[in-house]
Amino acid sequence: MDSKQQVGILGIGAIGTVISYQLQQNNLNELFYFSRTKHTHLKLISDGLRFELPVDIKTTISKPIPLDWLIICLKEHQYQDAQDWFPKLIHPHTRIAVIRNGLQLKHPLLAFTDDDHILECMIDAPTQLRNEGFYQNLNAPILTVPQNDLSNAFELRFKHSKININQVEDFKTESWKKLCESATLGALLCLHNDTCHIFKSEKLQHDYRELMNESIQVAKADGAIIEKDFTDQMLSKLMNYPDAKGSSMLTDMRNGKPIELGAKNGIISQLGKAYQIDTPINDMIIRALS
Ligand SMILES: NC(=O)c1ccc[n+]([C@@H]2O[C@H](COP(=O)([O-])OP(=O)(O)OC[C@H]3O[C@@H](n4cnc5c(N)ncnc54)[C@H](OP(=O)(O)O)[C@@H]3O)[C@@H](O)[C@H]2O)c1
Repeated sequence: MDSKQQVGILGIGAIGTVISYQLQQNNLNELFYFSRTKHTHLKLISDGLRFELPVDIKTTISKPIPLDWLIICLKEHQYQDAQDWFPKLIHPHTRIAVIRNGLQLKHPLLAFTDDDHILECMIDAPTQLRNEGFYQNLNAPILTVPQNDLSNAFELRFKHSKININQVEDFKTESWKKLCESATLGALLCLHNDTCHIFKSEKLQHDYRELMNESIQVAKADGAIIEKDFTDQMLSKLMNYPDAKGSSMLTDMRNGKPIELGAKNGIISQLGKAYQIDTPINDMIIRALS
C-alpha cells in the first residue's frame, strides 16, 4: 500500500524539470525543489503541449528536511559544488535516486548514506532548452534501473506518470553500452565541432570504430558483457542518423558550458588505468577537449 512521501528533486535543469513534472502526476508525492538558480515556474514542452507550472525552488535551506526520497538530477561535474546540499537533504532513512550519465553513480554519495539506500538510474529523455526558458522533452522518458526492491519502491513515486521504468538484470552492462555509445559519438563530434554528417567519411567511420573498440576493452575488463558485433550495430545505427544530429556534449560545447568529459571519456580512461588497459584515444580526447 502506497503512502504520502516527501520527495526532493535536486537540480532543476533539463532532466530535473522532466522528472519534477512526472512526479507531480502522483498526489502522494509531496514535492520539494532545490537548485542553484531560482525560477518561479517549471517550463516544459511535452507531447507538443506547453506547461508552465508554479514552483517554489529553494536555492538554499537553513534547516535539514527529512525527505523520504531525494532524486538528484545533476551533471557529474556539478557534484563538487553541490556537496553542501547532501547532509541537509539526506537522513538515515532517505532513499536516493541518482539520475545521470556515466558510471559509479553512487560514489559521491557514499560519504552520506549506505550503499543500499542509493539507486543508480540511467535516463533516456532527450530534452533541450528552447525559447523563453522552456525545456522541450522529445520522447516519453525511459528510466533504466537495476532489478531490486529499491527500484520497486522508486517506481511507486511515478504512479500515473508517463515515465517508463525499465528494471534490468545487468545494469552494469546496460550502463557501459550507453557510455561507450555516447562517449564515442560525443567526443568525435566535439573534436570536429560538427554534426553526424561527418560520419559519411570512411576515415571518421574508422575513427569511430577504433574509439568504440578501445572503450569496449575497458567495459569488458570491468565485467560488462558486450556482444561481438556491438561496434557494427552502433555504426549502422549511426549511419541512419540525420546529418544534422548532434549530441549533448556538442550542444554543451557550443553553448560554452562544461562538457561531461569526466563522466564519459574520463571514466573510461580512469578505469582503463585501473585494469592496465591502454586507452590512448580516450586520453588524447581528454587532453584535446579539457
Ligand atoms: N538533457 C538531456 O537531454 C539528457 C538526456 C539524458 C541524460 N542526461 C543526463 O542527465 C544529467 C542531468 O543533465 P541535465 O541536462 O538535466 O543538466 P542541466 O540542464 O545542466 O541541469 C542541472 C541542474 O542542476 C543545477 N545545479 C548545478 N549545480 C548545482 C548546485 N551546486 N546546487 C544546486 N543545483 C545545481 C543547475 O543549475 P543552473 O540552472 O544554475 O545551471 C541545473 O538547473 C546529466 O548527467 C546528463 O548527461 C541529460
